[in-house]
Amino acid sequence: MELDHALKERRSVRRFRRDRIARTTLREILDLARHAPSSMDGQPWHFLVVTRPGLKARLTAIKNRYTPRAKRAYPADFVREAPVVIVVCVDRRRSYGRGIENAVLASELILLAAHARGLGAVYLSAQRRGEPRLAREIAALLGLPPGIAPVTLIPLGRPAERPRPKRLRDLEAMVHDETFGLDAARSR
Ligand SMILES: Cc1cc2nc3c(=O)[nH]c(=O)nc-3n(C[C@H](O)[C@H](O)[C@H](O)COP(=O)(O)O)c2cc1C
Repeated sequence: MELDHALKERRSVRRFRRDRIARTTLREILDLARHAPSSMDGQPWHFLVVTRPGLKARLTAIKNRYTPRAKRAYPADFVREAPVVIVVCVDRRRSYGRGIENAVLASELILLAAHARGLGAVYLSAQRRGEPRLAREIAALLGLPPGIAPVTLIPLGRPAERPRPKRLRDLEAMVHDETFGLDAARSR
């Protein structure tokens, strides 16, 4: 699939078919993800490929337990329904103080590589500022050693929904020539 097309078409998918995802497909996706940029080229990633129903159910429960009040209308119940959940983690010693950024960039590549293969996925955070228990409980569940931190959760599978193209905010409201200047008055 052409890159521009993949970038424009990708949407978050939260309903999945039950079909197993081939191990070779998952390897291809993670092989692409490790090409992401990283601070000082530290390549600090660890990708946990979680398929066991018990683990997926417990990840879902942890994620829901620490969902902020304002987002409780959107529970993460779909996590347990995905055939695979990729947990993107970083080794802090290779992250140069930029663990979150490093993990997020690899996560975006996972979303795009999955989409290019006809799979659906969605980005979820495994960390929450001011609530260290979210990452701590995920780390304990998955047996992460000290220094390895979970940053994102990406449920992935064959889509059972086809989200419509989304309405984008105007490009003109986002782009500023040289300085923010008077454009601020126009931004929406
Ligand atoms: C930092 C971040 C956190 C997100 N957290 C959640 C989440 O907790 N639950 C969820 O269903 N989607 C989550 N998403 C996915 C967004 O809701 C989704 O990307 C957004 O609505 C735009 O839709 P699109 O991905 O289809 O373009 C998150 C996305 C980002 C970037």
